[in-house]
Amino acid sequence: MINRNQIELKIIQDDRGKLIALEALKNVPFEIKRVYFLYDLNEEKARGFHAHKELEQMMLCLNGSCSVVLDDGKSKSLHLLSAPSKALFINKMIWHEMRDFSKDCILIVLANDFYDESDYIRNYEEFLTRCSQSSIDD
Ligand code: TYD
Repeated sequence: MINRNQIELKIIQDDRGKLIALEALKNVPFEIKRVYFLYDLNEEKARGFHAHKELEQMMLCLNGSCSVVLDDGKSKSLHLLSAPSKALFINKMIWHEMRDFSKDCILIVLANDFYDESDYIRNYEEFLTRCSQSSIDD
């Protein structure tokens, strides 16, 4: 299920260089309310380690590379973001961890809502409990 989250963005290329457009509800699967980016990252330190109750996000490396682990509570998948054309959709209730940042990594994230700490699940046991509750409810 989580492998469907990789989105290959169209590169518009000519002899002047390359261009990629990000458009809400077209190649970005939601309305964009927030954009944030991470840079000057510590190669030794992984980030993330949380899921969101409602937030949907799309992540891509504008420069450099990193790897992202996605976990839906049943299975985990590893994704290498090694080109700006490789985007990763992170749905709500997906535990994610970003690591192996190259020195020049610039990670940009589009989100469908504003920052809200109460939307975070930062405890993995709580995440697994909520996943199993929602699969019972289904
Ligand atoms: P966090 O989401 O925990 O970072 P990561 O997932 O990369 O490990 O955010 C780090 C800090 O930045 C935390 O104190 C919340 C704050 N923050 C904002 O204020 N606004 C934002 O849009 C984001 C994403 C984080």
